[in-house]
Amino acid sequence: MNFTFEQYEESAQAIRARLNGFTPKVAMVLGSGLGYLGDEVENAAAIGYRDIPHFKASTAPGHKGRLVFGTLEGQPAAVMQGRMHHYEGYSYEEVSYAVRVLRLLGCETLIVTNAAGCVRTDWKAGDLMLICDQIKMFSESPLRGGNLPQFGVRFPDASRLYTPRLRELARACAKELGIPLREGVYFYCYGPQYETPAEIRAVRALGGDAVGMSTAPEVIAAAHCGMEVLGFTLLSNMAAGILDQPLSEQEVLDAGEAAKGRFSALVRACLRKL
Ligand code: HPA
Repeated sequence: MNFTFEQYEESAQAIRARLNGFTPKVAMVLGSGLGYLGDEVENAAAIGYRDIPHFKASTAPGHKGRLVFGTLEGQPAAVMQGRMHHYEGYSYEEVSYAVRVLRLLGCETLIVTNAAGCVRTDWKAGDLMLICDQIKMFSESPLRGGNLPQFGVRFPDASRLYTPRLRELARACAKELGIPLREGVYFYCYGPQYETPAEIRAVRALGGDAVGMSTAPEVIAAAHCGMEVLGFTLLSNMAAGILDQPLSEQEVLDAGEAAKGRFSALVRACLRKL
């Protein structure tokens, strides 16, 4: 199925009707265990995904499934507390639907966050990583199907999905705050099962530093419609097969909780300087 431009407009209109003229400039997607930033938004108005036409529910653990509008560090923001994933049964077009709607509402920048497995054996669980690029070449594009020229061109450039200017800004903020920040490539995997040790060896050989089940589709859609993108990964656990122990969802959520202070400080500093 392909959504029509009118459907995106319909969603945007339903949201606008609740915002009393508020125009968000920065869209944020908060991943597993990282949703708390949404609770820090000032003068907040929250809208549940189920109250927005054509939006899907967010069913993953730690994902509240609502959009919070308000200001964070002085920036008018739209924060997605919870995202949609392909493994929940959604198409990539559905997964990235909200990003296009936020673009129509006025957002020019997208900040994406996620929890992911750490593929690098010289890094450790709990580290924060600035995403400098991504690999999503074994699954279809969110742009598959008829192109909607209102959003962008048929064959968009993908050589700078994560905006160089914003990466530089994030490096400077991390340095200023004394927060160690890795930099690497996010490798997208379908999930919902975590990867096998053999898959992680393959990911490593292909150039992935972090492995996760989200983010890459939304970033493609955002870049397509002209948004600048900044991405942070919390390396919540060592990827499969690195340690002699099974992976668990609880470990991912606990890592989010433990990184709260650092993560929130870094994102807030970036927002101040956008
Ligand atoms: N693999 C995939 N997705 C993840 C992981 C992982 O190890 N940790 C958190 N999200």
